[in-house]
Amino acid sequence: MTRPTQAKHTILRKYLDAWLPILGAGRHAHEHVVLIDGFAGPGRYSGGEPGSPLIMIKAYLDHSATLDAAAHFFFIEEHGERCEHLRREVAALTLPSKVEVEILEGSFVDEFPVLIERLRTQFGQLPPTFAFIDPFGAEEIPAALSTPLLRIPRCEELVYFPVGFLARFAEGPEFKPILDGLYGGQEWKKALAAPDFETKKRILHDLFLAELQRHVPCVRSFEITPAAEVGGNTYYLFFCTGSKMGLRRMKDAMWQVDPETGQAFRDSTLADHPVLFEQEADLGRLQDMLHERFGARWFTIEQAEQFTLLETAFRDNGHLKPRLKTAEAAGAIEVRRPAGKRAGSFTPGTRMRFIWWHESP
Ligand SMILES: C[S@@+](CC[C@H](N)C(=O)[O-])C[C@H]1O[C@@H](n2cnc3c(N)ncnc32)[C@H](O)[C@@H]1O
Repeated sequence: MTRPTQAKHTILRKYLDAWLPILGAGRHAHEHVVLIDGFAGPGRYSGGEPGSPLIMIKAYLDHSATLDAAAHFFFIEEHGERCEHLRREVAALTLPSKVEVEILEGSFVDEFPVLIERLRTQFGQLPPTFAFIDPFGAEEIPAALSTPLLRIPRCEELVYFPVGFLARFAEGPEFKPILDGLYGGQEWKKALAAPDFETKKRILHDLFLAELQRHVPCVRSFEITPAAEVGGNTYYLFFCTGSKMGLRRMKDAMWQVDPETGQAFRDSTLADHPVLFEQEADLGRLQDMLHERFGARWFTIEQAEQFTLLETAFRDNGHLKPRLKTAEAAGAIEVRRPAGKRAGSFTPGTRMRFIWWHESP
């Protein structure tokens, strides 16, 4: 199993660990949740490591919270032998009655829209749904965008985007219809005129991001650069959600990925502001972004939280307030608190503004 695959799996597991109890446990639990792996593979790698379908099932089975929602897993795989292997892997598990696993042998393009329609008919409306879209190539991604999934609240997708593959093959005539479908037009042709491979990749990446953003309120792009390939291949995972909570939890997951020596993970949603996920977040960057956004104007803690969550890679729930505290202590911001609130707190209604340009250390 390659390192980017390990990273993908870590993110998948950490995210589901957070997603499942939000939607499937406690007072607000839904009765059903749906988890789809659109390119499931055989369920186990030749080295014995579990594949994504087993990781998804295990996230549910091993969860420390009591999950009340019934889980419906659907694994789509077009390769007959891999399906068989996956069936055997699933059969070896002991599943509680509220877990249903269905393996759909066929092509994602055909199976996915039919499945969504079936679920809508079965449940009246689609239950909270998470889909992992992890193709070898890019041929099948347009179908993921053409389904209604992305426009339904509480439905989310984690899409592996093979941009290096696209950049390498964009010139082949056989890829034209694929790229037209993927980008919803011919804008991708701009990439053909790019002076170098990196620029070509960036153009294809940014256009795909823009295409996703036309469909979904919150999209973030995560870049994985394996140690052995620094300066070479990069891999992208796009996370698409209509839910702020979903976005918050995915960021939590990304900040927990333990970077192995030399392996880099970045948020690369904004070309000018890539943010490296490190054990010690560089919160000076967040302060700079806030300053860039609000200038010398007064802004509220709510505006700062909204901006941090939606427009930066940083965590509104873990990074923002500690940094504001540091900024206040350094005299970089002036803070007005609602009456009775203690110094250093950033409770609702707190207002602030930058009073001098603070360069991050
Ligand atoms: C990258 S692998 C998936 C790995 C798996 N998600 C994991 O992380 O363990 C892609 C899989 O998609 C399957 N596949 C390729 N084209 C497909 C298609 N059009 N529809 C469904 N599955 C497809 C391949 O047979 C392969 O097993």
